[in-house]
Amino acid sequence: MKTAITEMFNIEHPIIQGGMHFVGFAELAGAVSNAGGLGIITGLTQRTPELLAKEIARCHDLTDKPFGVNLTFLPAFSAPPYPEYIAAIREGGIKIVETAGRSPEQYMPALKAAGIKVIHKCTSVRHSLKAEQIGCDAVSVDGFECGGHPGEDDMPNMILLPRAAEELKIPFVASGGMADARSLVAVLAMGAAGMNMGTRFIATKEAPVHDNVKKALVAASELDTRLVMRAIRNTERVLKNAGVDRLLEIEREKGAKLKIEDIRDEVAGVYPKVMIDGDMDAGAWSCGMVVGLIHDIPTVKELIDRIMADAEELIRNRLMGFLDTESKASLKVA
Ligand SMILES: Cc1cc2nc3c(=O)[nH]c(=O)nc-3n(C[C@H](O)[C@H](O)[C@H](O)COP(=O)(O)O)c2cc1C
Repeated sequence: MKTAITEMFNIEHPIIQGGMHFVGFAELAGAVSNAGGLGIITGLTQRTPELLAKEIARCHDLTDKPFGVNLTFLPAFSAPPYPEYIAAIREGGIKIVETAGRSPEQYMPALKAAGIKVIHKCTSVRHSLKAEQIGCDAVSVDGFECGGHPGEDDMPNMILLPRAAEELKIPFVASGGMADARSLVAVLAMGAAGMNMGTRFIATKEAPVHDNVKKALVAASELDTRLVMRAIRNTERVLKNAGVDRLLEIEREKGAKLKIEDIRDEVAGVYPKVMIDGDMDAGAWSCGMVVGLIHDIPTVKELIDRIMADAEELIRNRLMGFLDTESKASLKVA
């Protein structure tokens, strides 16, 4: 399939694997890129720029196809050495960066000088327009359904994507709630040039996380995510578990007076415990509502091949089937 995104990133299929803390290692990014999508290494999971450089080199050993690096811009008080991370990205020959969190404006000159294409992930039309204005090449429009940080507008993709299509000149992919061919075909209809998946890619054979995580995703339903940290305007969609129940209890008690220190045990240092040790009740970790659509643990290639084959079938048979005979005849002539 050819779209503005496959052309921009020189990939076969319009499917991106979003950066994921303690999931987006070389194994997953390499597998996604080898399957014709765009794999992305999560920059800040690597504790130092030197470690990121090694992870990038490892991914080059796994694939000859393009892959990217995610740079998540955190609140200023905990800023990692971003210029050094960008140097590791540049020196690693990376030509695609997914930015997220705060605006990448400050780092755009360095990224652009290195010939890097920037796709910024954000949760509103106004932030997408800002990304366009500061020179981002594309946007990943992340709806309220998404795993991770959906922002504070609570705008689902059925509204957000057509609104983005009305306003944006640069191409965008749909992010949040994407699982299969139905997702892809639907968002193409709404104006997107592809889709970005997070949660779905965790339940794949190559995702380098504990089996307990994959099993938990298959077992969970669309009703099993919760929003946490709303009171401190850092809303995150996570999978419900005993740690999240504790966190929500503290949030109920503290109300609007909640401070990050009150919930540190349930949100800090959780990812290695969950993703590496398989301790599923350790605390809050991102998970999208799309978990209700995850019923198996395929290889990345099986997943992507299935999406693309089913998408073709959906377009040719289901959608074309709705057209009247006259329209179909004119399509054949064209
Ligand atoms: C476990 C997990 C960790 C994530 N970590 C990050 C991250 O570090 N940086 C980032 O920009 N997005 C992160 N995300 C968000 C994903 O890149 C993606 O935007 C999101 O998962 C899309 O929604 P979906 O889960 O419904 O597919 C994470 C998502 C998950 C599920």
